[in-house]
Amino acid sequence: MVTSTQYDVLKEIMLSRGSVKKYDATHVMKEEEINELLTLASSAPSSWNLQQWRYLVISKQEQKQKMLPIAYGQQQVVEASIVVAILGDLEAYRTAHQIYGEAVERGFMTRELRDNLVSQIEGAYADKTRAQMDATLNCGLTAMQLMLAAKSMGYDTCPMGGFNPQKLVTEFEVPDRYFPVMLVSVGKAAQPARPSDRLSLNELVIRETF
Ligand SMILES: Cc1cc2nc3c(=O)[nH]c(=O)nc-3n(C[C@H](O)[C@H](O)[C@H](O)COP(=O)(O)O)c2cc1C
Repeated sequence: MVTSTQYDVLKEIMLSRGSVKKYDATHVMKEEEINELLTLASSAPSSWNLQQWRYLVISKQEQKQKMLPIAYGQQQVVEASIVVAILGDLEAYRTAHQIYGEAVERGFMTRELRDNLVSQIEGAYADKTRAQMDATLNCGLTAMQLMLAAKSMGYDTCPMGGFNPQKLVTEFEVPDRYFPVMLVSVGKAAQPARPSDRLSLNELVIRETF
């Protein structure tokens, strides 16, 4: 049951989030805060519950400097407290046995259902393009949760697609299994986000059929 207070809090968090580009460069996020943030982010839903995301957390100054040219000079990557590179897992089928093994042990799932799901997943992930699309989709969901969780913890964020993924892979020695989907800066705002508008529902919504 959602109370009006929960609704008001969530609405406030959603509507007050904006892409902040200027941060207090002196602010350091505590390890517990980073862990809490990523725990909340990782509670996002994912296809087959495969959690096709990994978080490459950049918090050290020299690593942020390395990120600067990769992000085409976007200063927020050095001024934010952390930058999270959200990586998609192209071989997420590998974790199916672990995830479902635990679910079977805890009685959340039958062995038959597990076997059925594992064979579906192996079929889907045999196609690399499909695996990449699936991972990208799921990374978007965790990124959104990360941004809302950060806002609720008193932090601001900016999602970034403006970076060179190949360079990131090389510089940060990302294994072949993973590919960069998005960067998210997280920190204490030094300047508010530029206001942004949205299209009206009239333009966005199609009821029942085109
Ligand atoms: C996938 C994605 C990529 C983005 N890439 C960048 C970026 O590289 N640099 C940047 O400053 N903002 C980037 N943004 C932020 C958008 O410009 C911003 O979300 C949009 O203008 C709406 O503003 P708001 O987030 O403040 O509501 C990106 C947003 C998304 C969702």
